[in-house]
Amino acid sequence: MAEKYSRATLTRNFLKTITRIKNPDEMLADAKKEGLEKTLGVWDLIILGVGAIIGSGIFAVVGIAAAGGNSTIGAGPALMVSMVIAAIACIFSALCYSEFATMIPVAGGAYTYTFATLGEFMAWMVGWVLMLEYAIGFIAVACAWSNHLVQFLSGFERFLPAWLANPPVWLVNDPFTAAKLIDADTFVPRLFGVPICVNLPAILIVLLITAILVKGTKDSAKMAGLMVAIKLGVIALFVIAGAFYVKPENWTPFAPNGLEGIFAGAFLIFFAYIGFDALATAAEECKNPQKDLPVGIIGSLIVTTIVYVLVALVLTGMQDTSGSVPAAFLKAPMAYCMSIAGQNWAAGLISIGSLAGLTSVLLVLEMAATRILYAMSRDHFISKRFQKLHPKFKTPALLTWTVGGLAVIGILTLNLDVAAELCNYGTFTSFIIVCVAVLILRKTDPDRPRPFKVPFSPVIPVLGIITCGGLMVYKSMQPSSSALLFPVWLGVGAIIYLLYGFVKNRLNENRIHNEKVAQRKLEIKR
Ligand code: ALA
Repeated sequence: MAEKYSRATLTRNFLKTITRIKNPDEMLADAKKEGLEKTLGVWDLIILGVGAIIGSGIFAVVGIAAAGGNSTIGAGPALMVSMVIAAIACIFSALCYSEFATMIPVAGGAYTYTFATLGEFMAWMVGWVLMLEYAIGFIAVACAWSNHLVQFLSGFERFLPAWLANPPVWLVNDPFTAAKLIDADTFVPRLFGVPICVNLPAILIVLLITAILVKGTKDSAKMAGLMVAIKLGVIALFVIAGAFYVKPENWTPFAPNGLEGIFAGAFLIFFAYIGFDALATAAEECKNPQKDLPVGIIGSLIVTTIVYVLVALVLTGMQDTSGSVPAAFLKAPMAYCMSIAGQNWAAGLISIGSLAGLTSVLLVLEMAATRILYAMSRDHFISKRFQKLHPKFKTPALLTWTVGGLAVIGILTLNLDVAAELCNYGTFTSFIIVCVAVLILRKTDPDRPRPFKVPFSPVIPVLGIITCGGLMVYKSMQPSSSALLFPVWLGVGAIIYLLYGFVKNRLNENRIHNEKVAQRKLEIKR
């Protein structure tokens, strides 16, 4: 009986510990004590936002979302409707992000908000899931960057040496992609019989981005600004020049695969909107987060949606997407349409723009991954050493290089098709949790000052949960490796928490307790 009683008590204590929340005031005090430098203004935020959002989604994924691919059907010209659906799901969540980001402007984004509402365990799990979005997304976009570079260089076949215009397969692909491309005659270096494939451009861009981030957030925003200007410029060029080649008959039938095609397109194109939430992770570095963050988050989302719908309109007007399309359209749709229209110069410029676009996405994704880990280190989930700032640049240098190093390992070992889908799962989950967290904190802490409030709560947060959850359930109903791997990722995260995060936090609590007792004893002695 006694044993039973103590087991029940233990369970109760355990549950109490893992659901213990961290008070937002404590978070703000922590951030004040050892915070990051505040350098970002509203324009920096909009630039970082657009920089984070517009990338491989609009330069590559859009082709499959319109015309369908191996495992999915396309939306056809109704792609613009898919884009608006995905944007609406994002705007609901963006409003919830803004409420939190202005109320608790500290590093960590959704991870921090979960700690303030659902407690330690859920916060760890959200941090773990966000690694899918930011760290795995970072790796996937680095490899997409490498693909675009190879495609760009191949356009200069006549001017460049052969090894550069057509680099060997093993030097520009991950092992899984290379396995599909090599045959018995292709040379691949081997170690103990195992083929060695190194995606060198992806590794180099990861190292370059890491070095830029270590040098400083303000510099990163400046570089993102240049990239944003280039990519918006080439997209404008596509829309204006492409408009002359639109054939209105391509817009009928408007939705060749009906509602199913529209939703499949919305799930896929959601990837193109990922990134606005990364702004919230930089809240601690904003000069005036209360005013600037909501404008930055919602503003960048609105700009992006307008740009995307215009691209969809011109793209589906230039290319008939109701039947099968050439493979080149699926890889780089905008560049393909311009070259078919005989405008090769425009196709080349679009390739440069897509490289710039992907570069700025990389900057923001890595910055977000490090800021979340930084917040987790502050909460004693991972080593405190990672909080150390660079003496000159005031950025978490060790942490940034660690993320860069892990990304290089990922590039060498991961299957990237699955990685990109997992990235979508991670993002949907974090959006849903932020919507839930807004509802909880409105109940548990109604009087806390909220410089920005989600309008029509609880309707907007609930709609956010329904739209994100609906798209996620829709995808899970179709068999895929990512639908199976996502629960595995969650399970591994829970085990690491129990064996490492939980233990580390308790050891830290004991240390603080012992220090307090020693201090008290000293005071009594005196
Ligand atoms: N939204 C980002 C992109 O499209 C992830 O590349």
